[in-house]
Amino acid sequence: MLEKSMPTSRLLLSITAFSMFFLIISSFFLFHSVINPFIPSSVFKQFVVESEPIDYTPDYKPEGNNEQPIEQPLVVPLPPSSISMIELDTHNKVEEAMPIDPHEATSLNKKIDVHVLSKKEACNPNKALLKVYMYDMPREFHFGLLDWKASPNQIWPNVSDIKHVPRYPGGLNLQHSMEYWLTLDLLSSNVKKIVRPCSVIRVENPSQADFIFVPFFASLSYNRFSKVLGKEKVSLNRRLQDQLVDFLLSRPEWIKSGGKDHIIVAHHPNSLLYVRKKLGSARFILADFGRYVAKTANLNKDVIAPYQHVVPSISNNNSAPFEQRPTLAFFQGAIYRKDGGAIRQELFYLLKDEKDVHFAFGSAQKSGVREARNGMGSSKFCLNIAGDTPSSNRLFDAIVSHCVPVIISDNIELPYEDVLDYSEFSVLVWGSYAVKPGFLVNLLKGIKRDEWMKMWEKLKEVAHHFEYQYPSQPGDAVDMTWQALARKKSGVKMKRIDRRYRMP
Ligand SMILES: *[C@@H]1O[C@H](CO)[C@@H](O)[C@H](O)[C@H]1NC(C)=O
Ligand SMILES: *[C@@H]1O[C@H](CO)[C@@H](O)[C@H](O)[C@H]1NC(C)=O
Repeated sequence: MLEKSMPTSRLLLSITAFSMFFLIISSFFLFHSVINPFIPSSVFKQFVVESEPIDYTPDYKPEGNNEQPIEQPLVVPLPPSSISMIELDTHNKVEEAMPIDPHEATSLNKKIDVHVLSKKEACNPNKALLKVYMYDMPREFHFGLLDWKASPNQIWPNVSDIKHVPRYPGGLNLQHSMEYWLTLDLLSSNVKKIVRPCSVIRVENPSQADFIFVPFFASLSYNRFSKVLGKEKVSLNRRLQDQLVDFLLSRPEWIKSGGKDHIIVAHHPNSLLYVRKKLGSARFILADFGRYVAKTANLNKDVIAPYQHVVPSISNNNSAPFEQRPTLAFFQGAIYRKDGGAIRQELFYLLKDEKDVHFAFGSAQKSGVREARNGMGSSKFCLNIAGDTPSSNRLFDAIVSHCVPVIISDNIELPYEDVLDYSEFSVLVWGSYAVKPGFLVNLLKGIKRDEWMKMWEKLKEVAHHFEYQYPSQPGDAVDMTWQALARKKSGVKMKRIDRRYRMP
């Protein structure tokens, strides 16, 4: 049975108290944005805090299986004055912001070098690359986790009016919002007036489907519902995962294929934590494999999707070329990480005194997003250094800022790497070379204007592959993710384009 579990009255009380407070804080920022002409007010709009307490304690424990080398959650009860500031790279702190308008998401109209269907072409089910069946699961698993006013028996929102689709919460939640964009896209594939690419179409009969999509918003469930409330024994996040297993394992579709044709989105590295092993035969859509054993998740069956960037995109005609980017290299983020992040520390000591290099703590107190936006937009290179997971939103923030990414993360997986050659628009460096004194700075200084401009042009061309939006556009992140799944359909092993690493 599925019980509804909504916040208790205590929670409501604190929400009210918080709302009052945040109202004051937000007014301050709106005011501030007026007196600071350099930063568009839209930047503030996106990160003003919503009324929600944030200092919860996620209750996960890697019980019984030693699969996840998971660090304890960094639950930092931020002082109230700092919660509108975003620390860019943590996977564990969650801040709420005003929902971003999905319709404001830039749809950059650039060359699409993958599978393209004319935008005007109506989607003919026979032409779709993929036919997907989606379970009509109770809304508690998906849109019910959003602030959506549904009528009693309504499972899905009406997505035909673009302006009125339920919003995904903003702030850091957005990084892992692909569960939402993919579900919306499937829902809209049956709405005639929505013009969208034809890569995927939702079918009503599971026997006609290439894949079965499981509409569970696992990342949101982790981000927002990991706290054990009141008299509950376990969190809603935990309960939903157990219910998901009960649901799936009793379905004839799952039993028939052993789950192999099921798609489960679990982008947040800590999402689906309790049951990922039990559901490991399914195809996952993930950020990386850092917290999975190879048996549960691997490149042969799973798909890597980009984070949604949190820094706003730079439009192609506003993008500063070589001469107008005074900073050679930019990094902002937590410098001391628990797992695998030692390299950040080493690089920090190597680079902190370099002229032209901005290497700084992106603490919650320092209005991280604003600084990152301005910093990345005025730097030639943006460093992406392994943190507590191999991937982070920072890479995608760099791409949409047209700041050439320098990828120093030996175990990183990159989205759509079988069709996209990252060496054309980024600089790949092994960690062991990066920490050799002088190597990195000399390497970057050695990349002259011509070479850099080529990578910059390529960045402007590919940036739209990393935009999530509704309705989906040809070649955007939603479409690219479906196409990546379509390439899996054939059973051909994914072959990624060779990465060209820079050597000393
Ligand atoms: C969805 O909303 C549109 C208007 O935005 C309306 O025309 C349509 O009938 C609605 N569909 C359903 C199933 O309620
Ligand atoms: C960019 O340029 C195009 C045409 O060249 C123009 O239509 C568009 O408004 C410009 N966008 C911005 C943000 O300046």
